[in-house]
Amino acid sequence: MFRTAIRMAPISASEIPSLNLLYKLDRLDVSRLGPLKGASPAYNDRIGLFRGDITTLSVDAIVNAANTSLLGGGGVDGAIHRAAGPKLLAECRTLGGCPTGASKITDAYKLPCKKVIHTVGPVYDDTHPAVSEAALRDCYRSSLELAVKSGLKTIAFSAISTGVYGYPSLDAAHVACDTVRKYLGTGDGEALDKVIFVTFEEKDVRAYNHLLPRHFPPSTPSTNDHDQLTKEQNAEAEARASQLPNVPSTDPADPEHALKKQKQGDKK
Ligand code: APR
Repeated sequence: MFRTAIRMAPISASEIPSLNLLYKLDRLDVSRLGPLKGASPAYNDRIGLFRGDITTLSVDAIVNAANTSLLGGGGVDGAIHRAAGPKLLAECRTLGGCPTGASKITDAYKLPCKKVIHTVGPVYDDTHPAVSEAALRDCYRSSLELAVKSGLKTIAFSAISTGVYGYPSLDAAHVACDTVRKYLGTGDGEALDKVIFVTFEEKDVRAYNHLLPRHFPPSTPSTNDHDQLTKEQNAEAEARASQLPNVPSTDPADPEHALKKQKQGDKK
């Protein structure tokens, strides 16, 4: 049996804990394996982690894991279209589809966010993993570029391709973290205030809890670390973090959806 996320009051970007806060609250463990090549603590105030229903976020943009038709589906695509209402589909119909790796933007209608960025992830091809990886990188990069071009400051990603499209969660999380970290290091990336990774099922929670500290390790606390939280601030931050909703362990709307895993290998 899975717990169903009760329709929550919208959650703003500022209410979603940053990595720095999660480290301070010991809600994210430093990796025993150490940082990966290129890792940096420089963005730990601008990376957020949230486990739950992406349709409850009142951020500037949420990123939908769509298909090339852009005409909806199950999983997070289905949840977003259900929450947005029929006008979202009507706008999507005018877009003429979207190739894998690319992204298109629409209004959000009844959703609490301002815009929806629809990106089309790869169907994981375990015979050509490098091809799948390149396409998944394109999804994250094209979504970030579109957000910046649209003047948006906060963006929340669902775990693209890790459901029906069968991308292994750990590999997908690595691609997501690496692509976001590299983009934030560019001039354009400075325009973004917060990039939030949204996890939903346990497999993705584990993947991000493992990989975020490897890509975005905590900054080594200096002796005169001014931003040490006072006891009151700690209590307030803990209270805020604990108010985040309990989450379903699988998609409450379409439990069969996750079973329709499509893998290139299975298509033979
Ligand atoms: N909020 C956040 N994440 C969610 C939600 C939700 N409400 N519902 C599902 N997810 C997560 C899943 O747990 C998974 O980690 O979204 C991730 C992406 O899974 P899918 O939605 O299956 O998307 P994907 O694997 O990219 O497959 C895309 O599925 O729904 C169809 O139309 C879509 O054909 C396309 C295909």
